[in-house]
Amino acid sequence: MAPRITVIGTGYLGATHAAAMAELGFEVLGLDVVPEKIEMLARGTVPMYEPGLEELLRRHAAGIEGSTGRLRFTTSWEEVGEFGDVHFVCVNTPQKHGEYACDMSYVEAAVSSLARVLHRPALVVGKSTVPVGSAARLAKLLAELAPAGADVELAWNPEFLREGFAVQDTLHPDRIVVGVAGERGEKLLREVYATPIGEGSPFVVADYPTAELVKTAANSFLATKISFINAMAEICEAAGGDVVKLAEAIGHDERIGKKFLRAGIGFGGGCLPKDIRAFMARAGELGVDQALTFLREVDSINMRRRGHMVELARETVGGSFLGQRVAVLGATFKPDSDDVRDSPALNVAGQIHLQGGQVTVYDPKGMDNARRLFPTLAYAPTALEACRGAQVVLHLTEWGEFRELDPAALATVVAERRVLDGRNALDAGAWRQAGWVFRAM
Ligand code: UGA
Repeated sequence: MAPRITVIGTGYLGATHAAAMAELGFEVLGLDVVPEKIEMLARGTVPMYEPGLEELLRRHAAGIEGSTGRLRFTTSWEEVGEFGDVHFVCVNTPQKHGEYACDMSYVEAAVSSLARVLHRPALVVGKSTVPVGSAARLAKLLAELAPAGADVELAWNPEFLREGFAVQDTLHPDRIVVGVAGERGEKLLREVYATPIGEGSPFVVADYPTAELVKTAANSFLATKISFINAMAEICEAAGGDVVKLAEAIGHDERIGKKFLRAGIGFGGGCLPKDIRAFMARAGELGVDQALTFLREVDSINMRRRGHMVELARETVGGSFLGQRVAVLGATFKPDSDDVRDSPALNVAGQIHLQGGQVTVYDPKGMDNARRLFPTLAYAPTALEACRGAQVVLHLTEWGEFRELDPAALATVVAERRVLDGRNALDAGAWRQAGWVFRAM
């Protein structure tokens, strides 16, 4: 019989993983400690914006007309313990307030609660991004707390999905990495991933620390690529070069590759910034902090981009934001997401607001989250309304909708035709033709 699956934590990662497992034919039970989230999911509503996820959920959530009924949700740990053979732990590990290290309390609480209800053989699979060494510690915790004792095994199976592509990345991963301490873990995970999900994807089996490190190393490399190109952008700006062309040209070398070389206001979100910081903190604990000092530079280049955007905007409006109207297009940390965690766009908007600018923000999907995080900013229902009366327009998240904007139509509502492209994504020629002073990063 196919193993029955539970998913602990139904955020981006968990909700997507649960729906994807149901899509592959498994019986799945999702648990979250927030009852409102569980109620929403059970009704077939995804609590965040993620393309394709709601359709997948509705195809399988029990109680939705015409669904397969393979996917159910609960807040009961006992139910999870009774139901599951394989338990995926998908809770988040945010950055600790005022520290570089990440907060492991949600993972620890989830594993402890789960352990106590494991009365029969089970595999617990960690998917959360954790500091290296966590899996070994959690395996010990499981052994101590689980009534089934040695019949409970732990595996570590990091997740590499991108927001905005979560469904696609989960169903067609680049690679499947599993960290195991015993044969049973590997066998069961091979069975789970023997479905179309694993077809064509390399299956890498490693020990716990390697599996944990693959995830942090991958995100650190991606962050480094972005900061590298942003450092080149600083040089290009000083020397009069074009960083977009430069990225394209170096990207022709397959060893470098074209991806993740988009210069702009830098990376944000709930993963890259906190992962590089947590990695540095962990290296410090391991006594090898020097190995990662370059990540400090990666982080500071990244943060400098936000400040640089603010400076460019200030310069553009004549040296001070006081009494100036600033339109901000984009609030989310990237397009096709409603996530505003550590968003460069909102950070820039906030800095300008603090410096006395009258900022009006518009974002296609992130307005509610942005309002909650930054209630003091003004928000407009459309890009056109955000731009009304503006002395400068800042393009800070590269939504497709912004590339489609008609510069001639916008020109009729702004006070000054000045636009700064913080993502190097707009068609400079078209804007200039409509009479705009156009500057990019
Ligand atoms: C990232 C990784 O890409 C995923 O592989 C990983 O699974 C995930 O973190 C995670 O740890 O959970 P995500 O945070 O969804 O995924 O977003 P990315 O697509 O990586 O973008 C991160 C930030 O980098 C965004 O703010 C984006 O605008 C910025 N970025 C990306 C650039 O500034 N330039 C680029 O060339 C690419």
